Amino acid sequence: MNPSEILTKTENYVRQKLEGEGTGHDWWHIHRVRNMALKIGKEENADLFVVELAALLHDIADHKFHDGDEDIGPATARNWLENLNVDEKAINHVTHIIRDASFKGAEVDTPMKTIEGKVVQDADRLDALGAIGIARAFAYGGHKGRELHNPDIPPKKHDSFDQYKKSTGPTLNHFYEKLFLLKDRMNTDYGLKLAEERHQFMEEFVNRFLLEWDGKE
Ligand code: ADP
Ligand code: NI
Repeated sequence: MNPSEILTKTENYVRQKLEGEGTGHDWWHIHRVRNMALKIGKEENADLFVVELAALLHDIADHKFHDGDEDIGPATARNWLENLNVDEKAINHVTHIIRDASFKGAEVDTPMKTIEGKVVQDADRLDALGAIGIARAFAYGGHKGRELHNPDIPPKKHDSFDQYKKSTGPTLNHFYEKLFLLKDRMNTDYGLKLAEERHQFMEEFVNRFLLEWDGKE
């Protein structure tokens, strides 16, 4: 099978699997991440076949929806790519990107080994920021039955992936526990530039949220 057939089949597979998903990990998240990853990947002269495959498959089976199982995403992607007879080197690269790219806690480093991984991680992170990032955070929080905000529950800096996965705090805490930290963890120049703009918008949002919370104008 040629690369373009592999990509089309993979897009169709992911689309039918994630279409209509309601927590911000739906097909349109994948679509945005894929487009952003290709844009950054071109700037960085990355292998765009690996970038596109990894972006398409990065949330195919997320630990957040499988009792914290970190192996299910890479395993599902491997299974799919083996069925398409993708070469082992590319499968290995894609599955490593899927495993490494996720945020794992404020105090947990998540270095990416290759430029393709850096590109996909930046694209995924950008979709957690800005207006869409805010919408996704509250969609996810609602799905998990979390409060919007609770001033009695302070944010936590998680120092292990396990702790981070178990956290059940209100959604506003997620801004301090993850979203505001992403800007300083961007890998590429283009990713950083966009992250800075989106970060600033989220800060304005949270400032206003807290003013309104206190009944101020
Ligand atoms: P990652 O693999 O880095 O977690 P995803 O593409 O799976 O990235 O998307 C994670 C998104 O899910 C976050 O950007 C956020 O919108 C949402 N999310 C995850 N955990 C929480 C949480 N505890 N509260 C609110 N939103 C969350
Ligand atoms: Ni994602």
